[in-house]
Amino acid sequence: MNMKMLKSLVFLMSAMILVSCQSKKEESTMVEKKSFGKLSNGEEVYFYTLTNKNGLKAEITNYGATVVSLFVPDKNGKLEDVVLGYDDVSGYEKGESYFGGIVGRYGNRIGKGKFSLDGTDYQLSINNGENHLHGGKLGFNKRVWQVVGAENKMGGSFIALKYVSVDGEEGYPGTVELTVNYQLSQENELWINYTATTDKNTILNPTHHSYFNLTGDPSKTILEHELMIDADKYTPVDKGLITTGELADVANTPFDFRKPKAIGKDIDADNLQIKFGLGYDHNWVLNKHPEQVFKFASVYEAVSGRLMEILTDQPGVQFYSGNFLDGKSKGKHGVMYQYRTGFCMEAQKYPDSPNKPEWPSATLKASKKTPYRQTTIYKFSTK
Ligand code: BGC
Repeated sequence: MNMKMLKSLVFLMSAMILVSCQSKKEESTMVEKKSFGKLSNGEEVYFYTLTNKNGLKAEITNYGATVVSLFVPDKNGKLEDVVLGYDDVSGYEKGESYFGGIVGRYGNRIGKGKFSLDGTDYQLSINNGENHLHGGKLGFNKRVWQVVGAENKMGGSFIALKYVSVDGEEGYPGTVELTVNYQLSQENELWINYTATTDKNTILNPTHHSYFNLTGDPSKTILEHELMIDADKYTPVDKGLITTGELADVANTPFDFRKPKAIGKDIDADNLQIKFGLGYDHNWVLNKHPEQVFKFASVYEAVSGRLMEILTDQPGVQFYSGNFLDGKSKGKHGVMYQYRTGFCMEAQKYPDSPNKPEWPSATLKASKKTPYRQTTIYKFSTK
């Protein structure tokens, strides 16, 4: 190749790079940011709107890294909000239902809030009977997160939020830096990627706490939704909802969702576990092996035709059928959320795992080389 040809080639390549950079620029837009009101201490928080090319819309606030609303199409293409929540931040500040938030440091319950790690006993704050639930009195869902990146783009819109939980917060050892990246893909999936590190060995088991109602009408119950969970076993609980340590078969029990079944079919069965949970409020032991993302559940609502499939790399899922919703909490657009009008599917380690050494561990070591990672995906389609 002579000099002239080489120069033209270099020119052509630079032009191509410039065009591709420009078109990349055009493809991405700023994420819309609006005030979500002020906290009781006067601090203002915001909500951010992610969109994709199919019209899906996720509204996320930096208070609790909370999904406030999630608009997905029904079988006729009508977009409706499929999650419960409040109209402004004061609802979340006062609320006790964990609507849409990231819960942690340890999502779910730890018996009497006690565990020991590396020979030291820890006492966490007690906020649920005699137990510790969802990170304590002021868990991650009640904290202001920092937005560290946000973009609407063709490859997937995202918002990344970071929270630094200091050593000793709610009784936990070590300062944990957790980043949660919500991404809305063009395939109508909401991805939740978690990464975290700690400066001292600690425990970490964050999860996502959206209450779904796929009808798009939260005045209706979720009892007709058909649920499938790919799990042969679940973890029974005592009357305080602390896991007993047993992995019990779901076969011939109300807990068998291996084939799609209406949530309401066995929810009031004459069964001690159902009585303890006031319905479903249990952890299922997922059949597939953890550490790679796999589909473990689907939920279908026939009238709207909405189907939600859920994928995770976690070993368990807490399926909670909204048994503590009591019609006293005023949600979005003034709807009073009644008993069982939303359900949660919380991918996580099995509850009280710090006190069950034989179960997958929630210990996070103080090593930057092996950060905590989790991916959970809620995928929407219709049929
Ligand atoms: C728990 C329920 C609890 C609810 C709080 C769920 O994750 O499993 O027992 O009452 O969160 O809203």
